[in-house]
Amino acid sequence: MQIYISEKRGFILGPGKVDLKGRDLLCLHDFTPGEIAAILELAGDLKEKQKKSIPHPSLQGKTLGMIFYKSSTRTRVSFEVAMYQLGGYSLFLNSNDLQLGRGETIQDTARVLSRYLDGIMIRTFEHAEVEELAKYADIPVVNGLTDMQHPCQILADLQTVLERKGRLKGLKMAYVGDGNNVCNSLLFGCAKVGMDIAVASPDGYKPDAEVVRQAREDAVATGARIDIITDPVEAVTGADVVVTDVWASMGQEIERALRARVFAPYQVNPGLVSHAKPDYIFLHCLPAHRGEEVVDEIIDGPHSAVWDEAENRLHAQKAILAMLL
Ligand code: CP
Ligand code: NVA
Repeated sequence: MQIYISEKRGFILGPGKVDLKGRDLLCLHDFTPGEIAAILELAGDLKEKQKKSIPHPSLQGKTLGMIFYKSSTRTRVSFEVAMYQLGGYSLFLNSNDLQLGRGETIQDTARVLSRYLDGIMIRTFEHAEVEELAKYADIPVVNGLTDMQHPCQILADLQTVLERKGRLKGLKMAYVGDGNNVCNSLLFGCAKVGMDIAVASPDGYKPDAEVVRQAREDAVATGARIDIITDPVEAVTGADVVVTDVWASMGQEIERALRARVFAPYQVNPGLVSHAKPDYIFLHCLPAHRGEEVVDEIIDGPHSAVWDEAENRLHAQKAILAMLL
């Protein structure tokens, strides 16, 4: 599927026509601003079609395999429904039930699955495993979250901001909390669309230094400003979008009590958001630990866009699948 993108909404564009067929989606750093704009355009278009019950079965006869090493509500359900709505089929593959869990190599798994499937979505721990899978698979591989990146989530986040604000370039995002996979992907997402981002994290929990370096490189082309700081109030001051995520990600459960102490000053609560723009929106990829990184008053409050954000996983991923597979 080839998508023509327009300059409406201030997207930063490359060449007019975008063709992502056969590509992997492992990290937003690998995509041009024009390619990201095209995914967001198609996501909006497919959302409108779905709401109007206009059929759009562009993946008829295609099958997506979905490998999960970690739990999931949104990613599993939204990818499964996405394939169904696009006329295709999806297979849930629990890592424990695959021979992968008994020592078959990623390379061999990639080669075999490529003979059955049209695409693979994988959620796992090590980012390098997803890169390895993509290297040996002949079909597109989509990253459904690693310890380093969560690119599908950030495309849904950008779609949500675009819907609420009508543009992305020139806005300010504040990310408050752990410099984790979501934070890393937000750095790339903002850099690619020209949105300023200020990340406030305690020392020892800042985003990956190499990711920050690469995002700053990406930001040169779009004019996005990237600040990695410690003070949450400074980050949130003047923000259009306030984002947080859990303090202990999947795989870090043992550190939960320690992290709860370290991150206590980073809670998103009415005091903190009083420094944001009066019309700020609040995002959280979910699941939320209410009372830790965010309080009920904010996540359930009038500025929260988290349910649209969760819904947009479906639409953004439909765009990704329709373009890649
Ligand atoms: N946000 C997100 O990826 O949610 P799940 O862990 O439920 O898939
Ligand atoms: N940072 C969280 C995101 C969950 C969707 C985690 O990795 O657990």
